[in-house]
Amino acid sequence: MTMKSFILLALSLTSVHMTTAAGSAAHRCFCQVTGTLDDCACDVETIDRFNNKEIFPKLQKLLSSDYFRFYKVNLNNPCPFWTDHSQCGLKYCAVKPCTPGEVPEGLKSSSYKVLLSHIVYITRFVVGGFLSLNVSPCSDETRQALQEWKKHDDESDRFCMLDDVDSPESQYVDLLLNPERFTGYKGPEAWRIWNSIYEENCLCVEKRAFFRLISGLHASINIHLSARYLLDENWFEMKWGHNVSEFQLRFDKELTEGEGPKRLRNLYFLYLIELRALAKILPYFERPAFHLYTGQPTEDNEKKKLLLELLHMAKSFPLHFDETALFAGNKKEAIKLKEDFKLTFKNISRVMDCVECFKCRLWGKLQTQGLGTALKILFSERQIEAMPNTSNTNPSFQLSRQEIVSLFNAFGRISTSVRELDNFRSLLSNLKQ
Ligand SMILES: Cc1cc2nc3c(=O)[nH]c(=O)nc-3n(C[C@H](O)[C@H](O)[C@H](O)COP(=O)(O)OP(=O)(O)OC[C@H]3O[C@@H](n4cnc5c(N)ncnc54)[C@H](O)[C@@H]3O)c2cc1C
Ligand SMILES: *[C@@H]1O[C@H](CO)[C@@H](O)[C@H](O)[C@H]1NC(C)=O
Ligand SMILES: *[C@@H]1O[C@H](CO)[C@@H](O)[C@H](O)[C@H]1NC(C)=O
Ligand SMILES: *[C@@H]1O[C@H](CO)[C@@H](O)[C@H](O)[C@H]1NC(C)=O
Repeated sequence: MTMKSFILLALSLTSVHMTTAAGSAAHRCFCQVTGTLDDCACDVETIDRFNNKEIFPKLQKLLSSDYFRFYKVNLNNPCPFWTDHSQCGLKYCAVKPCTPGEVPEGLKSSSYKVLLSHIVYITRFVVGGFLSLNVSPCSDETRQALQEWKKHDDESDRFCMLDDVDSPESQYVDLLLNPERFTGYKGPEAWRIWNSIYEENCLCVEKRAFFRLISGLHASINIHLSARYLLDENWFEMKWGHNVSEFQLRFDKELTEGEGPKRLRNLYFLYLIELRALAKILPYFERPAFHLYTGQPTEDNEKKKLLLELLHMAKSFPLHFDETALFAGNKKEAIKLKEDFKLTFKNISRVMDCVECFKCRLWGKLQTQGLGTALKILFSERQIEAMPNTSNTNPSFQLSRQEIVSLFNAFGRISTSVRELDNFRSLLSNLKQ
């Protein structure tokens, strides 16, 4: 053997050796993240392709619009469950709320506009004359009527505690300026939150589905903090990016006693649930009276078009989760189960007020609210139609702006996580050991 061919052979052996080992680093996180998912006719690869190529880019575009980037939230609710909680002093936990001038004027009145258009709607199509539309849009009577209506109509459907957006404590936050990423929030405080959320599981009849949703959400949060990790910091800038070791610590099967890959599968389960909700809600947004109102008609129409494209795409997904399978069994059981889910979810949304890190609280609230909205859509018995049945006096299905914004942004987070898994998969296969 010549020296040259020896070197070549040695080189190729090393590279063979490297690929096997590299394959295994990726394999240890992704071994079970393939093939069909339990309870569903769907496989991971189909979701990956569908999400990464179609849903993800469109959704990102939608979420950067004014309607979706400004989220109104009360980050100052007291924690209802324990009093000994400290404030997180980490600077990465800070949330910068908008100054009044930063929020588009049209948006400030829009939660109310959505309701108004709905009232117009019932008035026109369903109840006929129940509310006179001659009242000026800003009069106290209108506001009061809206409030009353809002309370009655919605409470029974809801899976989540919603912040009172009219409270002076609620503020607009620009989600694009306060991205979900590594904050350094960890240790006993963070565990206490996760523990009390998982404890709710014991109270829930459908323990398995409930657990998988929460575990999927937990996985998503931990993927984001690994993908936007604070890698370096100096006087001038902070450098955020993928930290592969952090990802491995959380998802490698050998470092998590086999749990990591299962947690990633739960992320896909959550993805399917939220995707199914989007498919089901399509007719609601097809109503001519529905506007993504920010006060700029051209932009608003464009964004509504984009929203409908996205929802049609969601609907076209060939292997949808069948939510009726979740509540199988007899009708009585199903009703009990739904009630149970509701109580548990409401409690979880209150636990979010106990999260010390404001950035984590913001995204935690948004995501539980978004998931709550998805469940409300999936399990509501109200009709969700583009043209509600006019002889039906039951008020039709309704979403507030806060629910809409949280639904789409929450799905945006899960969709981004699925996209990030692709990045981690390639980063892991390039690893040297
Ligand atoms: C609501 C909320 C939002 C947060 N947002 C952020 C954020 O934006 N940025 C940030 O940097 N940190 C955030 N955190 C903190 C982060 O989630 C972790 O708690 C923290 O990084 C410490 O991680 P850990 O390795 O100790 O385990 P944790 O993630 O705290 O998990 C605790 C235990 O739960 C189990 N577990 C972990 N993952 C799963 C899963 N997917 N399914 C089932 N069980 C699981 C494991 O046994 C683990 O030991 C948030 C925490 C909470 C409660
Ligand atoms: C709500 O959560 C708190 C704190 O985890 C718990 O003490 C309480 O029992 C829960 N209540 C319900 C109805 O789930
Ligand atoms: C990446 O995460 C690991 C594990 O948490 C940590 O030890 C390491 O310092 C991080 N890397 C960087 C560049 O911050
Ligand atoms: C409309 O609602 C009425 C009363 O609930 C019902 O009898 C009728 O069948 C419905 N029509 C359609 C087209 O669903």
